[in-house]
Amino acid sequence: MRFKDRAVIVTGGSKGIGEGCSRVFCAEGGLVAILARGSEAGSRLAEELSKTGPGRAIYISCDVGQPQQLIDAIEIVVKSFGRLDCIINNAGAHPPATTIDNTTIEQMEELMRINYLSTFVGSKYAVPHLRKTKGTIINMSSMTAVLGQEHSTAYCATKGAQVSLTKSLAIELGREGIRVNAILPSNIDTPLMRDWASTLDDPNSALDRVSKLQVFGRMGTIEEMGRIALFLATDDSSFLTGQAIEAEGGASLDY
Ligand SMILES: NC(=O)c1ccc[n+]([C@@H]2O[C@H](COP(=O)([O-])OP(=O)(O)OC[C@H]3O[C@@H](n4cnc5c(N)ncnc54)[C@H](O)[C@@H]3O)[C@@H](O)[C@H]2O)c1
Repeated sequence: MRFKDRAVIVTGGSKGIGEGCSRVFCAEGGLVAILARGSEAGSRLAEELSKTGPGRAIYISCDVGQPQQLIDAIEIVVKSFGRLDCIINNAGAHPPATTIDNTTIEQMEELMRINYLSTFVGSKYAVPHLRKTKGTIINMSSMTAVLGQEHSTAYCATKGAQVSLTKSLAIELGREGIRVNAILPSNIDTPLMRDWASTLDDPNSALDRVSKLQVFGRMGTIEEMGRIALFLATDDSSFLTGQAIEAEGGASLDY
């Protein structure tokens, strides 16, 4: 019960890595607010988690690419739970592999809004509440922020921006006792990963190839990412801030 009666917002908390975070925090007694677009998956998961407990979950429909929707959702969460201890800025999109020639300015702007601007807005509007609890901010970036990825210029740039925000904000908020960290997953088995693979010529061999990139020969699980987030949200990590935690199963070793 490492998050008992404490409140967390998980953007994109209905599926994939966000779902893993929602499950882990609820299992530790947390009050979990799932913010996502697909209302069916979100409300189903919130219902399931509230039933199994020991924590409790609510679903709030929110497109994080629309700043006002995110601002309103944060206020609803604080009204519902009476507090906020952590925001996990996790929701994100990965477009199909595309060259820079075929990436339009509009597509770049749109992705910046969903992956990066949402991280800025989520952090900015959570901070007044996190000041009261000495809470934490966790930004779901990617190993591609530091390694790059072929035909993913726009995506990698948004993920790099999240890391830079993490470091600067950690300096700004450290003296107030608010910690800010980022998680940089390599390859995690999620709907996003499978959707991305399906845009490639041979999805099965692509999934096999990305599994073998980790020294364990497999992708990470959503629960493994949730447990890293839990560590960053509790006092177990009280001396960590501004860090880009490379949750990559050894994928960057032995290049
Ligand atoms: N899966 C991986 O291997 C991997 C690797 C590195 C980084 N990441 C990052 O982790 C995060 C989660 O990825 P995932 O693989 O779990 O994705 P996913 O597509 O499996 O799940 C994404 C979740 O975000 C929600 N979402 C997407 N766009 C949204 C929007 N505009 N507003 C509200 N909710 C929205 C979806 O409803 C869903 O709940 C992303 O930021 C992604 O960039 C994933």
